[in-house]
Amino acid sequence: MSTKSASLWARHAIFEKHSSILLLGVLLVISIGGLVEIVPLFYLRSTIETVEGMRPYTPLELAGRRIYVREGCYNCHSQMIRPLRDEVERYGHYSLAAESMYDHPFQWGSKRTGPDLARVGGKYSDLWHVEHLNDPRSVVPASIMPSYSWLAQTRLDGKHIAQDMKVLRLEGVPYTDDMIAAAGDDLKTQATTDAADGDALLARYPKAQVRDFDGNPGRLTEADALVAYLQMLGTLVDFKLYDDKANVR
Ligand code: HEC
Repeated sequence: MSTKSASLWARHAIFEKHSSILLLGVLLVISIGGLVEIVPLFYLRSTIETVEGMRPYTPLELAGRRIYVREGCYNCHSQMIRPLRDEVERYGHYSLAAESMYDHPFQWGSKRTGPDLARVGGKYSDLWHVEHLNDPRSVVPASIMPSYSWLAQTRLDGKHIAQDMKVLRLEGVPYTDDMIAAAGDDLKTQATTDAADGDALLARYPKAQVRDFDGNPGRLTEADALVAYLQMLGTLVDFKLYDDKANVR
């Protein structure tokens, strides 16, 4: 052994002969690595890449989302398309983090008794959804989904919608004072076909779909809200923008 390597060995021997010193050495090295990884996160405002098209839910969609959570739809449906080939071919572009950045609580899920719903918006007509919720077997004979026939019979309770939006604002959803002040009106406007101020709603919530969703224009029901929510899922981001860019490369 040369004298140089002998002296290195002597210095390293201290770690090899004393397990507590080895442990301290390991902790020191891991904490340096940990700090390098973790400290920058405290200086970033967000780790989610922003994506064009994402906006907070309209009051009607938000009310629908609350019904979705209340009824436990997440027990059988996920809302996250994994970046795997079979998923992308079946459901469309894989889900982006930004697509659920306004979701409190998020609905990613891991249980799929039924299909993923992240991009179900626009896949079926409103009538299909109303019939499917009312009696799944009327449109999909082999379906094992339970029926939710009371939704189209139950008047939508929108009393707390502005309050709900204020709480979400505390959680970081960018609802403006204007949006909160108009919440009650927007809730009704979106489900009405002859709305006078549909334009104001669209200015606040681009791409919002304004129409009667439950096939019963005279009444604002829970089915209106839930179908408005389902029809909007996955429709906000225009993936052609991103795919075209990807093709240029
Ligand atoms: C017990 C499990 C279960 C629950 C709970 C459930 N579903 Fe389903 N869902 C299914 C199954 C299975 C299918 C596939 C067969 C069918 O289309 O009915 C399905 C299909 C669907 C589809 C069609 C998806 C597609 O791409 O074809 C929608 C939309 C849907 N469910 C919405 C809901 C909503 C909204 C709720 C809550 C109100 C809900 N489901 C609750 C099991 C469930």
